[in-house]
Amino acid sequence: MDKHTQRIALVTGANRGLGLEVCRQLARQGITVILTARDRNKGEQATQQLLEEGLQVIFKPLDVADDQSVNQLVEQLEAEQGRLDILINNAGINFDFQQPVLAADLQEVQDTFNTNLLGAWRMTQACLPLLQKSQQGRVVNVSSGAGSFAGPRGLLEQGGGLPAYAISKAALNALTVKISRALQETGILVNAVCPNFTATYPGTAEMGARPVPEGAAGIVWAAMLPDDGPTGGFFRDGKPLPW
Ligand SMILES: NC(=O)c1ccc[n+]([C@@H]2O[C@H](COP(=O)([O-])OP(=O)(O)OC[C@H]3O[C@@H](n4cnc5c(N)ncnc54)[C@H](OP(=O)(O)O)[C@@H]3O)[C@@H](O)[C@H]2O)c1
Repeated sequence: MDKHTQRIALVTGANRGLGLEVCRQLARQGITVILTARDRNKGEQATQQLLEEGLQVIFKPLDVADDQSVNQLVEQLEAEQGRLDILINNAGINFDFQQPVLAADLQEVQDTFNTNLLGAWRMTQACLPLLQKSQQGRVVNVSSGAGSFAGPRGLLEQGGGLPAYAISKAALNALTVKISRALQETGILVNAVCPNFTATYPGTAEMGARPVPEGAAGIVWAAMLPDDGPTGGFFRDGKPLPW
């Protein structure tokens, strides 16, 4: 496939964990992947790893919490690629399960929102002109059942812990609905995906987390939806989740 027909995907927070694995799985499907990371060394190392696996991956530095970094990247994409087909808002921080809501450090809450919620919002706004040049625009917001009102371990079952993370993901779900409605007529499909408890850190597999490729597969599913696929939904493993 040439430059004009090969699909281009951008993944945020992709130097490790689910983001890195999503890059791998997308690149294995022949997609040109822009692997982004806020730390240049970590991003270049991750990219090298995928290049050695024979995959087509390009590294770009990106801090989703920083307007300037986002704008710089989008300018480069505009010049080098001219469009974007798939945006995966994966970067996420601060699983603050030990922080009580009533004594929460509000600076920490603000920082968490700036990455988990505004990072996805900022990226979607900035990339929109490039996504609109695609025939198959897809936006995937990597969310969490922790931000859901329904389901086990959701907001109604958490007590007062996990405030910054869970509320940031609830807001990310709301953002997904809003943006999907605003883009309803464009053909750009926008969905939120929960990867489920996934073993991205040592020791978590022993606690029941599933293998990283399994968690990543549901994110890739939403990136590869056909044109008549769903938009404005919340999914895990390709199946709808209640909000
Ligand atoms: N793993 C799970 O069980 C699970 C469950 C539900 C949802 N999720 C969601 O899935 C996503 C990925 O999770 P994960 O487990 O793979 O997490 P992870 O291993 O901690 O990776 C998070 C990635 O985001 C990057 N990042 C953080 N802040 C950033 C910023 N401002 N700009 C750009 N990149 C930034 C990190 O970079 P650094 O390495 O530089 O910190 C890292 O590459 C997150 O949104 C998470 O909330 C995960």
